Amino acid sequence: MRFHRLFFSQVLVVLTIVLISPLPRANAQIALEAATPPMGWNSWNHFGDKVTDASVRATADAMVSSGMRDAGYIYVNIDDTWEGQRDDKGFIHPNSKFPDMKALADYVHSKGLKFGIYSSPGPMTCEKYEGSYGHEQQDADTYAKWGVDFLKYDLCSYESIMQLWDLEHPEKPVSVTQQEKAVATMEQAYEKMHRALLNTHRPIVFSLCQYGIGSVWKWGAKAGGNLWRTTDDIRDDYRSMSLIGFSQAGLEPYAGPGHWNDPDMLEIGNGGMTADEYRTQMSLWAILAAPLLAGNDIGNMSATTKSILMNKEVIAVDQDSLGIQGKKIAPLQIWMKPLSGGAKAVAIFNYVLDDQAIPITLQLKEVGLAGHVHARDLWAHKDFEILQGSYTVVVPPGGVVMLRLSK
Ligand code: GAL
Repeated sequence: MRFHRLFFSQVLVVLTIVLISPLPRANAQIALEAATPPMGWNSWNHFGDKVTDASVRATADAMVSSGMRDAGYIYVNIDDTWEGQRDDKGFIHPNSKFPDMKALADYVHSKGLKFGIYSSPGPMTCEKYEGSYGHEQQDADTYAKWGVDFLKYDLCSYESIMQLWDLEHPEKPVSVTQQEKAVATMEQAYEKMHRALLNTHRPIVFSLCQYGIGSVWKWGAKAGGNLWRTTDDIRDDYRSMSLIGFSQAGLEPYAGPGHWNDPDMLEIGNGGMTADEYRTQMSLWAILAAPLLAGNDIGNMSATTKSILMNKEVIAVDQDSLGIQGKKIAPLQIWMKPLSGGAKAVAIFNYVLDDQAIPITLQLKEVGLAGHVHARDLWAHKDFEILQGSYTVVVPPGGVVMLRLSK
């Protein structure tokens, strides 16, 4: 009997492998790569158009020596401005800042890291370098040959192809039908690259970047996205970061293992915010199960920056295996994310009065807990008990208190 069961289950596995066509299999493999929100680093926020082969190599070295890799930051992603010209056959080559992309990918891989790159569905990227329009399969094949593991695909000049605006009269609103047609055209462009990536049979995580146009969270997964930007670009200031972060309320049903809402990259360590404000970004992004892509100079991090980016207890909230995006649970900025094993992560932000420390009270019933609750403060790294059904804490200006609550 036992033998039979074993035999049938083996036949089932073999049949499944034989019957499933290679593309869904490749899809499933990529979803596995993004089973928790992707973590890594991207060149844009710090290096911008100054990124070079040397700075990527130095970053890869620093990802290891600083402990970032071991904290979970695996991807080293080059953003815009690596692109050179196409050859006679239409194949893309990097520009002179990147003499040998394959060798660079090999170097990044040799450090136990993964390698990411950037392009656009339009003819030109946002910085007016060569995009993938009309060369999707060729580019996907080239990326696979180089050893690329992650592609950020940024709308940029495709906006004019999809005709979301009347270019002659940008002030004139386009009709609803025209808008719907434009969004459908954009979806097709993303699907096209998704299929091209699948055809390479190399698992390449697909990152949609089109600033949330057409409620991308509703169709991003169908178009093959493992993550999709939900907003316009983040800047290294509290106003931009907090507006983007807190505006994610309501998007939680659309995220889950393999497909994540992306409120843009981290600015932690870039100098435009206070340590408390950067703790707010780290905590909020973790509660949101957002991709954690550092955007600072990894080779030059202060002890404070390191302590924020590599707070393993906060990272564990982001990377929790349930993959549930947290939500806002009280009129003030109190957010909660359910964790595996029945625990809850709660972040209490001082957003309303961000110029002075204020006491904020969390009611345990708001997070579905009652009675005696065990609490761990994830920034103070301290345990305590909550006995009375509520917890009042003074939260610093622009800052956060983040707890892990369990029975
Ligand atoms: C923007 C994108 C940024 C960065 C930049 C590069 O459209 O949102 O994250 O990639 O292009 O040109």
